[in-house]
Amino acid sequence: MSSIDDLMTVCPLKQFIRENLWESYIEKLKKKSIKYLTLYCPPVMDVKHFYKRGYIELIDGVYRGVVGITNDPKVGESYTFSTSHGRFELFRVGLLHELLESGDRDLKGKFAFDAINLDYCNHLFGEDDTEYLSSNLKDIEIVITEQENKACEKFVLFITTRTDNNTKRKMGFAPGFLRDLSTRIVSNINSDGRFKTKYMEIFNNRPPISIVKLNFRTFISLGLVKLILMLLWDHDFVINNYNAYWLIRNEKPPERDLLHIAIFATNIKPRKVEKLKQYGTSKYKKEDATIILDKIIDKEIVYVTEKADKIKLQQKYSEYLESLNSETFDLTIPKPIK
Ligand SMILES: C[S@@+](CC[C@H](N)C(=O)[O-])C[C@H]1O[C@@H](n2cnc3c(N)ncnc32)[C@H](O)[C@@H]1O
Repeated sequence: MSSIDDLMTVCPLKQFIRENLWESYIEKLKKKSIKYLTLYCPPVMDVKHFYKRGYIELIDGVYRGVVGITNDPKVGESYTFSTSHGRFELFRVGLLHELLESGDRDLKGKFAFDAINLDYCNHLFGEDDTEYLSSNLKDIEIVITEQENKACEKFVLFITTRTDNNTKRKMGFAPGFLRDLSTRIVSNINSDGRFKTKYMEIFNNRPPISIVKLNFRTFISLGLVKLILMLLWDHDFVINNYNAYWLIRNEKPPERDLLHIAIFATNIKPRKVEKLKQYGTSKYKKEDATIILDKIIDKEIVYVTEKADKIKLQQKYSEYLESLNSETFDLTIPKPIK
């Protein structure tokens, strides 16, 4: 297992995110069992946790409605041959957007999902993404498209991105991406008075480009949600609810900051227009974004850090994590062919 996979098994901060952010959003769906798309990580702690909480069914050794993707061929190899208890309904090796673009019918056929968990470990659009679009953003766009194609009415979308931005070590977001986010925030300020008033209240009239330096974390959470919001609009979804949790790994340098975004998206039903004047006046596009500012004002954005919270959370979760890790899923590594 990779070091990330090991960490997922024992990390109490991650369990805090599973329980307090993801689970609370899954609960909003008010469904007995969910269809779940996730990035596969061998200890499958997220799947086991949601199973324990009754959101996922395990029938004849298969977690029903669960689809897992890994971009790591080595991890994938051991899974593909697996017949173990606790398998997924579908498992794929590759990048989500490439699999879907290549016309993977089985994968397409599994859409729409109730919950999609893109729990990446890198930057959403990093310094290394030299193309016009990053691989992770392509994934996000294509899953939203598939959700729309299947006339999905509501779903929860979880996105994780690293956000530490060490320009000296050339680790962080691509500069062009940060400029793009800033432009999006400016356009929201210019087009929506309510957003503008709240923005000015929080940032003392400073333009977005200056808050990049002053308060990078707030800037990035605002900009990213604005971008994902706009992506959702393109496919007739609006944000019904949103929150952001930060997981700060600051025990050992270099510090790694991980932003976990949870979005409850709903499909917009066409409005009933009764007067000529109402054509072309849809307001939904402008109003959603203030949710983000309200969360900042109401201090609802949550931070958990290794230095401040790890011991306390370890006491709370270590036993549960141990039992979760030792349950069901047990990979059968195929014997080499002689
Ligand atoms: C953070 S872990 C997932 C943890 C899981 N959500 C949990 O709660 O236990 C992310 C996993 O996805 C894999 N991964 C990273 N980027 C990926 C990508 N672009 N596509 C598919 N898998 C990816 C990593 O190898 C890693 O095993």
